[in-house]
Amino acid sequence: MIRIKVPATTANIGPGYDVLGAALSLYACFDAELSDSLHIEGCPEEYRNEDNLFIRSYKKALDMSGRAYIPISLKEETEVPIARGLGSSSTCIVGGIMAANELHGLGLSKEDMVSLATSIEGHPDNVAPAIYGGVVAGFSEGGRVYCTGYCCDGEWRFVTLIPDYEVRTEDARRVVKKDIGLADSIYTTGHVTGLLRALETGDEELLSAACRDILHEPYRRELIPDYGKARELAVSGGAAAFFISGSGSTMMAAVKQGDREQRILEEFKQAFPGHRTLSLSICSEGAERMETR
Ligand code: HSE
Repeated sequence: MIRIKVPATTANIGPGYDVLGAALSLYACFDAELSDSLHIEGCPEEYRNEDNLFIRSYKKALDMSGRAYIPISLKEETEVPIARGLGSSSTCIVGGIMAANELHGLGLSKEDMVSLATSIEGHPDNVAPAIYGGVVAGFSEGGRVYCTGYCCDGEWRFVTLIPDYEVRTEDARRVVKKDIGLADSIYTTGHVTGLLRALETGDEELLSAACRDILHEPYRRELIPDYGKARELAVSGGAAAFFISGSGSTMMAAVKQGDREQRILEEFKQAFPGHRTLSLSICSEGAERMETR
């Protein structure tokens, strides 16, 4: 039996739409072993079949390597909420590919796994940090996915508000404007560049200026009823930046660890008693096989 641990991720981080993401200190664990028939536990009944994203990804990795499918017995234990913009799909995709790699000795490199995972997910901004850990940017060129990792100041905290409602990724993608002009492209390139430096150096003033998005957040905030109130609390609590995690509904306030972090966390709890609140940090490790007894 093998155990695979995959971190949750936040994609986009403001202006890095479909490019930038970070692994977070929140995890999904998958125990898998070869079996005579498919057996899945630890998830809702509707996912306990061949259509399960972990199983589809496991099969794709075998297919791609020219190996025959052998069913598995799978047990999922996850802290990552489904359909909230924290990369739960990516944890399943990455977990399934890694399980195939480990159980069948496929010899896939991280680069191979990112390419396959990106082809399943459609963009690399969740799967790449889930595989490499830390802050990662990814782009496709010439049929290949290129990923670059960035340093992140260890004091950043992401005070996270997870609403009790979901935003469907397809809805969140539909509302985004498809054509943008040169001025918007220049704005975005500049902001992403500044954002990466701010994350690396811990420069709050720079993060505050750079973590502004014009590609998706202005449209998506309309899908999240609590966006306005949560942003107000984050800003008045001293956050350097506030953004939608992935396609939502989760929102995050970026702040250095300490009093302001605790204050924003407390204010989120009081204002939104039905939602989940957490303070997360960046996880520098990507998905890994854990020791099992
Ligand atoms: N970059 C993606 C989006 C992440 O914002 O739609 C969620 O799949």
